[in-house]
Amino acid sequence: MCGIVGYIGGREATTVVLEGLQHLEYRGYDSAGLAIFHNGRIELRRSVGKLENLRRILESEPIIGYIGIGHTRWATHGKPSESNAHPHIDCLGETVVIHNGIVENYLRLKNQLQAEGHIFRSETDTEVIAHLVEKHCRAGDPLVEAVRKMLSQVSGAHAIVVMSAREPDKIVAARLGHAGGVVIGLGEGEMFIASDAPAILDHTRRMIFLDNREIAVVQQDGVVCLNLEGERLLKSSQIVPWDPIAAAKGGYKHFMLKEIHEQSTAVMDTIRGRLECQPPRLYLEDVLFSPQELRNFEKVTIVACGTAWHAGLIGKFLIEELARLPVEVDYASEFRYRDPLVDERTLLVAVTQSGETVDTLVSMEEAKKKEAKILGVVNVVGSQASRIADALIYTRAGPEIGVASTKAFTAQLVALYLFAVYLGQGRGLLNEDRVRELLQDIAELPVLVGETLARPAEIYEHLANVYFKCHNFLYLGRGINYPVALEGALKLKEISYIHAEGYPAGEMKHGPIALIDELMPVVAIAPRDRVYEKVVNNIQQVKARGGIVISVASDGDEEIREKSDHVLLIPRTSYHLTPVLAVLPLQLLAYYIAVRKGCDVDQPRNLAKSVTVE
Ligand code: M6R
Repeated sequence: MCGIVGYIGGREATTVVLEGLQHLEYRGYDSAGLAIFHNGRIELRRSVGKLENLRRILESEPIIGYIGIGHTRWATHGKPSESNAHPHIDCLGETVVIHNGIVENYLRLKNQLQAEGHIFRSETDTEVIAHLVEKHCRAGDPLVEAVRKMLSQVSGAHAIVVMSAREPDKIVAARLGHAGGVVIGLGEGEMFIASDAPAILDHTRRMIFLDNREIAVVQQDGVVCLNLEGERLLKSSQIVPWDPIAAAKGGYKHFMLKEIHEQSTAVMDTIRGRLECQPPRLYLEDVLFSPQELRNFEKVTIVACGTAWHAGLIGKFLIEELARLPVEVDYASEFRYRDPLVDERTLLVAVTQSGETVDTLVSMEEAKKKEAKILGVVNVVGSQASRIADALIYTRAGPEIGVASTKAFTAQLVALYLFAVYLGQGRGLLNEDRVRELLQDIAELPVLVGETLARPAEIYEHLANVYFKCHNFLYLGRGINYPVALEGALKLKEISYIHAEGYPAGEMKHGPIALIDELMPVVAIAPRDRVYEKVVNNIQQVKARGGIVISVASDGDEEIREKSDHVLLIPRTSYHLTPVLAVLPLQLLAYYIAVRKGCDVDQPRNLAKSVTVE
């Protein structure tokens, strides 16, 4: 969840590290710090709160140097404070460490190290890493060996970066477990280290991604990768296709608003090159299951977290209907602890934007152990999930910086739709005409998304003005749009801190109806689809009890206007694709309410973009 940046080269390291951290602040933002090698020693600057505070400290106390590491923190052990901010330093002031993840056995290690005379200055788990490396260096080990020994002592999951004044020509980075990616950016006479590619995209697109249990020794003119046994590895670099402009705000007030408006492109890019018209079929470049394998699957299990889980629920509708396979959808955090019924006849679909969510990664590995085949629906190229999966559909949404997921969600829905059609066709359940129809529907989708987003924002601003003081919202949807209700509610609570609940509309009468009053807006997702009449009945039940209704409805639906207080219109599309359009007004509603409340839209409190802790 924390952001990591390192630099070694001919440029001023403070600037490169700070710029990189700026790109990563969305990952965690309760404190920030950096360490630079300067005049034969390591100097630290750290501060509580956002990066801006650190920047101010550096203005009054600058450090000039050409090798350095920096960190933005999302607290796990110890409150947000300057002493708990990374980097952490050893007793001698020689070794500094930044870290993302949790050292699970830190208490035992800390007790041992304290008994040996080490002085701790923070409440963090990370500090043990600095003292362990110090201990091995003092015993005569070179830095890499000291890091290797330290890695064999700590348990848990980590991305760790270490720098030492004893060997100021290198930075050592390591990945242990799934928490936190480590990417090395290869420049000309300079090298970069980061937890995520966007931090260093301004400088290079050529990158090496570390896998679990790998170490990189990064020097100005090269990188050597080792495994934990110290054996040299031949790892090839990848070109990351994102362009740095895509990771900037581009004139929008917030990343979230920019990313909402990028959805037409994200949808288009996710489809691009994957549809063939004559004969109609799908070309999913990294889904290399044989026709026999496709026929052999007996069930599908989808695992994901948060917004990606909502996409998975919609995926269930799509796969069950188009490919006629039973689908279970599990929270990854639950799946991994319940001895799930998964075997070689199961297709496990892991949906994840970051590809680094630890619960999802562990679920993938659990399923792999049980011989399931793993399909990853992943946005970040080269992420850990993309490497665990047997087959992949990249969502091509581009970098998503806003903590609240928007364009990644709609791209996930598109990817799952493509896969459902692919599976249905591969299993012989969809004839050519049906596939042609389904492909035509999706080919029209980017235009419909663009059209929806081009509509005037005044209605959202108006709704925000009227309802921003409400304490509760209820979101209702049915069928394939029930998960959209969950997603709309999640968006609102994440960024505006208003309590919101998503509910299947038909379930309202079994309990939540008791909550209805004139203070709680009810957002009803009611496009003209096969359950339209049913949702309209539910809307009437709300109105009959004095409730306020904001409906998401199809263009031209005059009937619903009479039954609702406000209507947000979307274009008509096929039943299977309505969620992609229906979620757009909900994202905008949440955004404008959060802005009206003065909330920090891109970096909501307590959240982080990649959740790399359990
Ligand atoms: O990177 P992932 O898709 O695996 O992330 C899963 C969730 O952490 C994520 O969707 C989270 O719920 C977002 N904050 C939702 O906006």
